[in-house]
Amino acid sequence: MSGHRAIRLGVLGSGRGSNFEAICRAIEQRTLHAEIGAVLSNQPGARILELGRQCGARTECIVPITPRGRLDAETEEKYVGILRQENVDLVVLAGFMRIVGPVFLAAFPRRIINIHPSLLPKHRGSDAAAQALAAGDKVTGCTVHYVDAGVDTGEIIAQREVPVQPGDTAETLQARIQTAEHELLPAVIAAFARHE
Ligand code: GRF
Repeated sequence: MSGHRAIRLGVLGSGRGSNFEAICRAIEQRTLHAEIGAVLSNQPGARILELGRQCGARTECIVPITPRGRLDAETEEKYVGILRQENVDLVVLAGFMRIVGPVFLAAFPRRIINIHPSLLPKHRGSDAAAQALAAGDKVTGCTVHYVDAGVDTGEIIAQREVPVQPGDTAETLQARIQTAEHELLPAVIAAFARHE
């Protein structure tokens, strides 16, 4: 492993946490020189919280005041407070189903990234795999991008293509996209860690 210090990550997710698992795997396999500073979720009972506890990271669920969409400022302050206490260098949205706002963006300028299951700018928002099928795409994929004030609109960092196969359902296509996500996201974080 190279001599640079480990980058500290704050990972936010709302669900299964398979991208978080991929990050942990890359750390274990030493292809990513990183530490998990905190795992945060808006969703009590989300599997990502259990995974965070298993890896010994600070793990907290903060339920936003507003039920969906953009986070309210008070909730953002709570998330940002924990991420600062844990000296997080990079915030990774890995299946976080809420939109971060100005408090977050000001606290971590160009240090919040998101993984999205399409070749942005195509198919923003939820159900990206279903959107790709409905559009008749032959190729879709996944994108890691900086987070800005919009929904899946920030500057693109890296993308990986995934073929759409005959007979695909949204579920089979999403599963194939996720396999690509699990390679792309740790690789992008590793590039950050190397200051690329
Ligand atoms: C991923 O497909 C990601 O692109 C999207 O949400 C999903 C999260 O999956 N933003 P997981 O919780 O990492 O398994």
